[in-house]
Amino acid sequence: MAADQRKEPGVVIKDGWSGYSLELFNYPEHYRGDLECVYVPHGVIMNRIECLARDILEDIGHHDLMVLCVLKGGYKFCSDLVESIKAQSRSANRRLTTRVEFIRFKSYLNDQSTEDLHIIGPDDLSVLKGKAIVDTGKTMRALLQHVETFQPKMVKVAGLLVKRVPHGAAELPDYVGFVIPNRFVVGYALDYNEYFRDLNHICVISETGKQKYKV
Ligand code: HPA
Ligand code: MG
Repeated sequence: MAADQRKEPGVVIKDGWSGYSLELFNYPEHYRGDLECVYVPHGVIMNRIECLARDILEDIGHHDLMVLCVLKGGYKFCSDLVESIKAQSRSANRRLTTRVEFIRFKSYLNDQSTEDLHIIGPDDLSVLKGKAIVDTGKTMRALLQHVETFQPKMVKVAGLLVKRVPHGAAELPDYVGFVIPNRFVVGYALDYNEYFRDLNHICVISETGKQKYKV
């Protein structure tokens, strides 16, 4: 199938999934009591990223790669995805030039989306974007509009998580890691008021955690 037509459906995590017990995992001591469960373990995230990297590499063909990382929540996903693309292209003996630029967005306060979206970014763009989470699709739409003004040859969006929210994103990323229920998750660079970015697994925050770090 032509690269332009393919949409990765993503691994679907069902509504009934209540996550893994925290006792099975190692996680920072300072978050004890602040989490309800491990929703997507770090190893599972990494394995899924390898699959996305394989698909991306296949679709790139002979083009070089310009990655636009959406900060802050997308930094881990972007970094692991780029590393996996590079590792796989090396082992296939392919020549691939990769550049990474960063753009910053902020739209969440506590666990609620706010109206104001700030874009702070580079002057020169782009082929592929890496973002960790897509729920309302508001950030993705704003970002695509911004990117189009630079008239890139080809634009592809990679998202680690897509949330099933009511009236959710009309348009999905081209590469999707997991499609998850409408729950607020943290870890793997996703935050709650800047906390939990230092957690490797994607977890669900507990009521205690929400109260403790509320602003
Ligand atoms: N967690 C952290 N940040 C987010 C989320 C989430 O579930 N949804 C949108 N931004
Ligand atoms: Mg945030």
